[in-house]
Amino acid sequence: MNIVWNKTSEQFHLYNDRLSYIIGVAPSGELANLYFGKRIHDRADFSYVLFRMGMPNVVVDADTESYSMELNCQEYPSFGTTDFGAQAFEVEMANGSRISNFVYKSHRISQGKKEIKGLPATYADKTEAMTLEVTLADTLAGMELVLYYTIFEGYPVVARHAKFKNVGNSKVKLTRALSACLDFPDQNYEWMQFSGAWARERIPEIKKLSTGVTYIDSRRGASSANQNPFVILKRPGTDDFMGEAIGFSFVYSGNFIALADGSTHGRLRFVMGINPDRFCWPLEKDECFETPEVVIAMTDRGLNDLSQTYHKLYNNHLVRGKWKNTPRPILNNNWEATYMDFTEESILKIASKAKDAGIELFVLDDGWFGERNDDFAGLGDWVENPKKLPQGMAGLSRKINALGLKFGFWIEPEMVNPNSNLYRRHPDWVLSVPGRKSSLGRHQLVLDFSREEVVDYIYGMLHKVIKGSKIDYIKWDMNRALTEVFSVDTPAERQGMVAHKYVLGVYSLYSRLIKAFPDILFESCSSGGNRFDAGMLYYAPQAWCSDNSDAIDRIRIQYGTSFGYPIVSIGSHVSAVPNQQTGRTTPLDIRANVAYFGTFGYELDLNEISDEEFELVKKQVEFMKENRALIQFGDFYRLRSPFENDQAAWMVVSEDKKKAVVGFYCLRSNVNALPGFLKLAGLDPDKEYRMEGKTYYGDELMNMGITLSEFYDRGFTISKDYDSFVTIIEEV
Ligand code: GLA
Repeated sequence: MNIVWNKTSEQFHLYNDRLSYIIGVAPSGELANLYFGKRIHDRADFSYVLFRMGMPNVVVDADTESYSMELNCQEYPSFGTTDFGAQAFEVEMANGSRISNFVYKSHRISQGKKEIKGLPATYADKTEAMTLEVTLADTLAGMELVLYYTIFEGYPVVARHAKFKNVGNSKVKLTRALSACLDFPDQNYEWMQFSGAWARERIPEIKKLSTGVTYIDSRRGASSANQNPFVILKRPGTDDFMGEAIGFSFVYSGNFIALADGSTHGRLRFVMGINPDRFCWPLEKDECFETPEVVIAMTDRGLNDLSQTYHKLYNNHLVRGKWKNTPRPILNNNWEATYMDFTEESILKIASKAKDAGIELFVLDDGWFGERNDDFAGLGDWVENPKKLPQGMAGLSRKINALGLKFGFWIEPEMVNPNSNLYRRHPDWVLSVPGRKSSLGRHQLVLDFSREEVVDYIYGMLHKVIKGSKIDYIKWDMNRALTEVFSVDTPAERQGMVAHKYVLGVYSLYSRLIKAFPDILFESCSSGGNRFDAGMLYYAPQAWCSDNSDAIDRIRIQYGTSFGYPIVSIGSHVSAVPNQQTGRTTPLDIRANVAYFGTFGYELDLNEISDEEFELVKKQVEFMKENRALIQFGDFYRLRSPFENDQAAWMVVSEDKKKAVVGFYCLRSNVNALPGFLKLAGLDPDKEYRMEGKTYYGDELMNMGITLSEFYDRGFTISKDYDSFVTIIEEV
């Protein structure tokens, strides 16, 4: 890993074993991208890649009379001079001009990586990464812009973000401040996005790019289930096992945009950052604005390799604290078992059975506070309901601990029901426009987390409940989109800051709670997977992946999620049948076989299942305890896509390649079809492995594949709907 500055050519070359990122000061003074891709040799001058020929109807820089931003790859372009593509930023000066001209001023190369104040970001110590900061200046606007690039040792990754500073005497407004731009010399790419809605999150969609704009965004206040802030650009033909691709992962949990702009000259631009729609950030003298970061990863070895890069980077350089690289407790959550209709006694009955099954953590979901007996009331009143918890959270946590279980509970701190004491006392604490009606989502309003006093108050209430009890885990929910985004406490010209300040408020509440209770395991949730993003993982190392707990749908949801997020971050539970979201009845086997590939737990009352099933649950819990470290932290490979087949398969291999766990699922039976083979991946071709009592070489398993009919001995056939198996492969 190194960052080289060549003073004569004014070029930077960031490289490690796998990638090169080359940036040059363009003849006009802006930064140009000279190369991004697989590692290449360094050389003193790469400026030969710049295109300087005049073309009819192309505007050129007035000093050089030959250089045009439009015809060259840019690092962080603006609109209004010689570039006409999607812009990375826009500054409005006091006189209304929106033209800027940021030129190279200075730079700094350092070991390691600095924090981004108030925002989640990847981190690294001095041996693990190097950072380049390039300062650009626009003297007329009185502005400085710093572009940050971090390259990590051993990862084909560059993390980018930007910081603006008003160094002049007049006010300016930032009306767009994206985090990164990457220009490519050609457009032969496919765009892969992860879209959905509640209960069908992160479904991969692929489009061929050409000229014009392709984009996804969120304007819902959260990153959203509709569009995930993660996009892959891949060469046509790239699949899980081969080919080139570049990933862009936004470490942020609010409104975002990801956009590709194919120019009619054949170039392609990709930009990503905070959604500029309704965004406006005034900067007074000496004020700064720092963007969140985008993590750019590349591969020339297929999408499994790209995903593994994100899994490892996020496990080692994003997730923090006690739960970093720690296998997660197997939990039982009471939500689908009781909804809000429970007593301490009924909860203890569920917990006690969970303990008998070997489960480690009990989670009390929604309904324990205020007048919360249905979803019309109580949010905002974070005080135990004495009818349900006669001795409070402290009493229940003591009793659950006495059973030998850890204990945690559910909160939704950003929200308030109009029917609550909090709202009655502070009706102006919600996001709303005076004189207009406020839209409702699940009968609730959104607290104005852009205001410090609101965050402080909620912190105080939660701190009290947590402090008084023994709490190991918290599920932090967020069940509606932001609308009527207006803060009564904010002057007119600062209303464009509110959506981002809301997200900063969420991050600050997380930070304060983590600081006060560093051992608590946070699981984020947003009606399931509405806010499953890299920003959240910095605070909550796991996320409830979807409210859809149906095993068949979950294969697709977890498969899609695995492209950008670590397996250990995927909250996945076994729930009762018929499934409460889809009405589908699946065997207990497949429900666990899917849930193993995540955090694993149960979302049901184990008293309600048969003795025979209970024995099976005990075995499942035992299996997960034995294999969770491998499953949650090993190298994950997608093997067969549920979007292209009636079957799905994936596997996890240990780092030393001595052990692997394979999951195979039949989504829909194929009558009278040959069972066929399943080719494995990631094994050592020369090692001999044992699987189901027989031995095979790694190369046999990866090239010939598993003979699926072998599993007929275990009662598995591919001619039964919802049949599945999980098998262990171990070095002999
Ligand atoms: C959301 C969550 C569920 C559950 C309920 C409680 O829908 O996604 O898991 O916690 O809220 O109200």
